[in-house]
Amino acid sequence: MIKVSAPVNQNLVLEIESFLFESAPSPWSIVLNRKTKVLLLEGIFKSKQDSQEKIQHLNESLSKNLNQIKIEKLDECWKEAYKNHFKTWSYKGINFIPEWERLNNANHLGDSCVYIDPGMAFGTGNHETTRLCIELLTDLYYQQAIPKNSFLDVGCGSGILSIFAQILGFRTITGIDNDECAIANAKSNASINFKSPKINFSKKNISSIDSNLYNCVVANIQSDVLMTYCTKFTRALQKRGNLILSGILDYEVEVVHKTFQKQLRTDHLEAEMYTRKKSDWCALLIKLL
Ligand SMILES: C[S@@+](CC[C@H](N)C(=O)[O-])C[C@H]1O[C@@H](n2cnc3c(N)ncnc32)[C@H](O)[C@@H]1O
Repeated sequence: MIKVSAPVNQNLVLEIESFLFESAPSPWSIVLNRKTKVLLLEGIFKSKQDSQEKIQHLNESLSKNLNQIKIEKLDECWKEAYKNHFKTWSYKGINFIPEWERLNNANHLGDSCVYIDPGMAFGTGNHETTRLCIELLTDLYYQQAIPKNSFLDVGCGSGILSIFAQILGFRTITGIDNDECAIANAKSNASINFKSPKINFSKKNISSIDSNLYNCVVANIQSDVLMTYCTKFTRALQKRGNLILSGILDYEVEVVHKTFQKQLRTDHLEAEMYTRKKSDWCALLIKLL
């Protein structure tokens, strides 16, 4: 295994974050070196050739090339390295805990907890886009604003949002992703959270979503994908359904908003639309009336 690291210039952070999100699940992550306070881009690769191809792909996607790139051979400890980047976090009494920290979090006994081992899948909740989904879902739950029959998690990654939906009490939960590894990881996470998981995870593309089935649809995927499939998303909802769209950079939110507004008009659907922002990311909540 090969580890690649390079210091990240502050001006490039936003571009790199956007690249990582769009290519999720990605072998790269941005890490803060606590001693030196330097931000590093780190990636783990199968071979030197693989690492060089990925560096080239990244450089072609950025406005400036990375420099001071360090390439080193790793021993087997790399498999555990991602664990340093996922920390326990909570929102309104619900705790999101790395699976390997379960025993150290006994003080959460009795609280609602979601345990996640993301492996190579996206979705610890440490990313703003996932947190926006969790916050919007939690707030809808406390406002008693969602009928809890059917939930669809589009691009489920680690399965974090589907697992959360089971904790909120949805009766039927479907999680889809076009990445087989994400589905395997989501199933494994469901089984470490529940004796009887009610979630149906399957490898599917957005194009296969059926119409008029769901009270709540959540999709944390980049904006161009959300807009390409806007018909699928708005038509997936039942009457008075809620659609949460995340993964939208703040400069993209206007065009995503307009695209969905136009689609709702075409479908003769009336809706209220709200935007929530967290650092450089936004989520849209669409509530059918
Ligand atoms: C940013 S991750 C979100 C993971 C998790 N839902 C979360 O909120 O943390 C986006 C996921 O969408 C999946 N994805 C991307 N395009 C897709 C498509 N066309 N159909 C199904 N899944 C897709 C990716 O494989 C990835 O797991």
